[in-house]
Parts: sequence; structure tokens; C-alpha cells
Amino acid sequence: MRILATGGAGYIGTHVVLDLLEAGHDVVVVDDFSTGERQALARAQEIAGQTCEIVASDIADGAVLREALQGVDAVIHFAAYKRVGESMERPEHYFRNNLGGMATLLSAMVDSGVDRIVYSSSAAVYGTQEVLPIPEAAAGRPDSPYGLTKLQGEQMLEWMADRRGWSATSLRYFNPVGAHASGHIGEPVANGANLFPRVLDAYADARKALTVFGTDYDTPDGTCLRDYIHVCDLSQGHLKALELTEPGHRAFNVGTGRPHSVREILDGFERHTGRRVPHTDGPRRAGDVPAAAADPSRFHQATGFEATRDLDEMVTSAWRWFTQNTNGYR
Ligand code: UD1
Repeated sequence: MRILATGGAGYIGTHVVLDLLEAGHDVVVVDDFSTGERQALARAQEIAGQTCEIVASDIADGAVLREALQGVDAVIHFAAYKRVGESMERPEHYFRNNLGGMATLLSAMVDSGVDRIVYSSSAAVYGTQEVLPIPEAAAGRPDSPYGLTKLQGEQMLEWMADRRGWSATSLRYFNPVGAHASGHIGEPVANGANLFPRVLDAYADARKALTVFGTDYDTPDGTCLRDYIHVCDLSQGHLKALELTEPGHRAFNVGTGRPHSVREILDGFERHTGRRVPHTDGPRRAGDVPAAAADPSRFHQATGFEATRDLDEMVTSAWRWFTQNTNGYR
């Protein structure tokens, strides 16, 4: 198949582009490189021994998209802003980029006769939920503008499927972590405030010791539980989702269903490295839910997908990537 990947130079996109190339697909990446990395795509192509086409552009440019969509069978739409905290500060940027950009993409797909899409959604569509593990039917109470844009993106696709007979699949990512087994592609540590990059940053510079956000939650060890999924498992999920060609929109959780606490993650790193993660216990972070876990059964039933990589592999691969690339792609 010929596949257009918007945002294909990002952390998740690069892993998926690599898997697509290895599976023999033709790939066109449209990325404005505002956060994506040219070097990451170069490495993905090198590992796969195959090349992809790269179009450096914002998805807001419909003419560029129409050109890039020539001969394309399916789109995977990764391109979006993804920082929850930033979306609380500047909601309008998220509405313009995530919703406006997506509307431009959908129009260009209509103009080009492309009717299949896999969409990067997020567990953020759920907001705070009482029932765990979370089933797909629970969606609809996002706690942030970011989560709202992800939910509304899904709703746009629901209408495109309904009105235009598209085949659309939304993948609600839980917490993607880890790196490619080669150690050559991964998530640059400078990328943000998520737990895994923070742990690696703390190892790099003890002055950046991380704070464990809350040790008094009603969980087995008092720290938050999250459903971490290895980025390579998540990537394989996209290839499975591409096989769904039935008209209609469906949304799936992509997680393991086996949550881990913050403490367990730190223990995992300490076991692997033999060194203490520089950290202190601190107060809860505003907006954090005590626990999140996916019910992954619907995606499994529809595609046979199963996440096979365990916590050790998440930690080991993150560490391998970090030690080989202490300055990210620079
Ligand atoms: C965040 C986003 C979510 C996004 C996900 C993956 C929020 C509210 N949610 O989820 O939408 O899909 O990242 O990109 O931002 N922790 C610490 N100390 C740290 C950093 C994190 O204790 O310095 C803890 C957090 O309290 C949390 C866990 O580690 O319990 C994971 O945090 P993080 O990686 O930021 O992901 P989420 O907050 O779950």
C-alpha cells in the first residue's frame, strides 16, 4: 500500500514509518519538523534499508496535502500538538492546529479520493474515570483542551464515515514509552515532562532529580498507576489498524491492560542500571488521576493485536536509546 503519514517524524510516527517500510509499504511523510526530527527519519530509513518520501510542510497547507495524497491508499494522522499542560495555557493553539489542521487534511482527502484513515487519538479523551480498566464506551469527559481536540477529531471521523462511507480507525494511546530495539530511534529526553524522559534526564544530571508526584494515592504503593505501552507494540497496532477496511468509524484503546506504578518504573530502571534514580517524593501534580488502565480487549478482538513487550523491555530499550544518544538526535 501507499501510505501518507502526517507527523511521521515524531516519536511514535518514526517507529511506525520504520515498520511500514519494513513491511514493504510505500510511505510519504508530511511533517513541518517543528517537533519532529529529520535525523529520526533518516535513521528509520537506514534501519529498514528502504526510503520514504518526505514533504516538509504544515498540514494547514491543503495544496501540499493534495499533491502528497496522489496515489495514496490510506492516511495515518499523527501530526498534532500533544502537551496537556500547554493546552491549558493556550487552548486556541490546540484548536487551530489539531482541529483546524485535521479539517484541512480531511478536505484534501475528499478532493483526492482517499477514504481510509488511522488516527492518533489518546486516553486523554476519557478524562477522570471511576471504572477501571476503561472500556471504549466510557469516552467523553476530557479534562483538557488537548483531550477535547482528540475527542472532537474522532467525532469528525465518525461523520466522515457516516456521510462519505470512509473507513476510519481511532487509536486511543495510553502511555507510550521505550525505544526501538536498535537504540537508534527513540524519544528525545528534552521532549518534555513525561515520566520516562524525566527519569533519563535525572540520570544525566542529578540536579534535575525528578519528583514523584504523590505518594499518598489509594494504590498498592501510594503512587499513581498508568498503562505504559512499548512504542514498538503501539507501532504494530497501527499496521493492524490499517488492515481494517470496512466502512465506518471505530475507536480502540491501545494499552496493555497491566498498569504499573511510578515506584515500579523507578525500581525497573534501578534494577537495570544498578544505580539509584535521583528523585524525591513530592506532592500530587494537579490534574493527575490516581490510576489509568486500558481495557484492550476490543482492539484484540477486531485485529488480533496484543502488546507483548513487558516493563523490563520498556526500561531496557529506553536506556539503550538514551545511553547511545545522550543529546537526542543532535
Ligand atoms: C500524560 C498526558 C496524557 C498523554 C501521556 C503520554 C497529562 C495529564 N496527561 O499522561 O494525555 O497521553 O502523558 O504522553 O499530562 N510522574 C512523576 N514525576 C514526573 C513525571 C511524571 O511522578 O516528573 C508520574 C505522574 O504523576 C504519572 C506518571 O508518572 O502518575 C506518568 O506521567 P506522564 O508520563 O506525565 O504521563 P500521564 O500524566 O499519565
